[in-house]
Amino acid sequence: MEQQEIRGVWSSKVGFIMAAAGSAVGLGNIWRFPYMTGMNGGAAFVVVYLLFVFLLGFPIMLNEFIVGRRTQRNPVGALENLAPSTSWKLVGGLGVLTGFGILAFYSVIASWTLGYIVKSIEWGWFNPIEIDKIEVVFNEFIHSPGEIIIYLIIFMLLTMAVVYGGVKNGIERWNKILMPILVGVLILMIIRAITLPGALAGISFYLKPDFSKINDRILIAALSQAFFSLSLGMGAMVTYGSYLSKKDNMINSALIVCSFDTLVAFLAGMAIFPAIFALGMAPTQGPHLVFVVLPIIFLKMPAGAIVGPLFFILLTIAALTSTVSLMEVVTAYFIDEKGWKRHYAVIMIGVCCTVFSILAACSMGILPQVTHLPLIQMSFFDVLDKTFSTYSLTIGALLLAIFVGWRWGLKPAIEEAQNGNKNFREKVILSIFSQEITFAKIWSVLLKYVTPIAIFILILDSLKPSENYQVIGYFTAFLIIETGALWLLIRWLADIKMNPGQIILVPIIRLLFLFILGPLLILIPYLGYLLAFILAIILNYVLITYLLKIPKTKIWNILALFTLFEFLGVIILLYFAFNI
Ligand code: TRP
Repeated sequence: MEQQEIRGVWSSKVGFIMAAAGSAVGLGNIWRFPYMTGMNGGAAFVVVYLLFVFLLGFPIMLNEFIVGRRTQRNPVGALENLAPSTSWKLVGGLGVLTGFGILAFYSVIASWTLGYIVKSIEWGWFNPIEIDKIEVVFNEFIHSPGEIIIYLIIFMLLTMAVVYGGVKNGIERWNKILMPILVGVLILMIIRAITLPGALAGISFYLKPDFSKINDRILIAALSQAFFSLSLGMGAMVTYGSYLSKKDNMINSALIVCSFDTLVAFLAGMAIFPAIFALGMAPTQGPHLVFVVLPIIFLKMPAGAIVGPLFFILLTIAALTSTVSLMEVVTAYFIDEKGWKRHYAVIMIGVCCTVFSILAACSMGILPQVTHLPLIQMSFFDVLDKTFSTYSLTIGALLLAIFVGWRWGLKPAIEEAQNGNKNFREKVILSIFSQEITFAKIWSVLLKYVTPIAIFILILDSLKPSENYQVIGYFTAFLIIETGALWLLIRWLADIKMNPGQIILVPIIRLLFLFILGPLLILIPYLGYLLAFILAIILNYVLITYLLKIPKTKIWNILALFTLFEFLGVIILLYFAFNI
């Protein structure tokens, strides 16, 4: 109890549900869901998405709540607590890293939303715009670095301010009134959209599934969208669950959050698709989609000059309650595990993340070097989105399900869930062949078998050779060679055996270094080499001392070789693979 009071608990049950729903409901529902649906075949995607939300998302959300409330810790601390001195805490570490990565690209879209508050007021009240100019203005907007960076910084400061205020003061309060208003505004928009001439084609695209369109790309897209939208797979719900009290009914909470989140996404689609088709636009245009369609709905709407700005204000706040949950995970980690003060953690994380966000924002066409990253031909923004939302989230959810299902055990997990909901284990809902089926049993089977197997197959499936197989090949080869070389080197030079966690993690982290060092070389002529070299020394020093914990006396030759390798790695990669 004492620990709980220091960390803060939600002041009421509704407060928790609101906060969790606030994390879940955000740009994922209103920006990402419609454009993913548009790019992946419409209604068939929606059906698969719904299936994944309730079959895989719901059990995993409950799983995260359980781990959080049981341990009262951030994801890393939680796993350390349940499986002390094992490599399992790396799963939590992956979550913390993912939180940072998602925050970096998510803030870019959030800053567009913030900018759109101003723009929609301007269009509605002072400077009416014609419908066919909207796309042009949007493109100008995302290509003006000054404007974008200012909004980005304002948005990041807002996030920092709320996280700084702490769980109870900051996070809970916002959501109570705002969520219902958001739903109300969405309904107004739907009424306008479906009464536009030609809207029917959009409704049928959105609601009439053509299952022949389903392929493996759609399956992984739906899975990642489900986890992204529900804020799963990186410990956000572990962290929020850690502020729960033992009396709270987590099963109902998970069900309510999943349903509400899905409802908001569904409504957003219902407003957007009829409008897209009525306006004769293509649903497949990707991340820009809603920013072009929504303003048009408002222009065509009576009182659009009020509803439009109101909508973008609500959307900005919805985005804010989501970024807060992302930053809270990273912050809680540094506070609990590293003993940082809250204000220090918030400032450090905020500043670092802003740097990455600015790069991501500039990769929408401002800086050609990051807009078409060589070889992979993706923008830095897309790389962040793909790496963190598609792969990190699904892998994180998979590993946590395996951890609870197979390592920690379902028994203590069910006991934890039983607190606050007696029916979970006791109420028999069905009797088949004298087997009594309870909610707890259904959840166990879902968590232990269904989720891990399904997620694993979907991830494998998505890795099948595609246009990008060459890149995946290069990186896999690099990882395998690095792993072997490092393992040998460290044994030889320092007589130290790495444990399995380190063997996996060290090469991956070094691969990430390449992504930091590479851009330096490309972006800054000549001086970039020197900077990259110095940075390589620093990064590797941190890696060697913190992760490998190699004693100070043995560091130097390893550091020299690591740095040289890293630097050569960058040059080889740039020269051969990226043709620079
Ligand atoms: N779910 C949020 C949205 O839909 C985004 C988000 C917040 C998130 N926290 C997360 C996604 C944690 C994944 C993991 O906008």
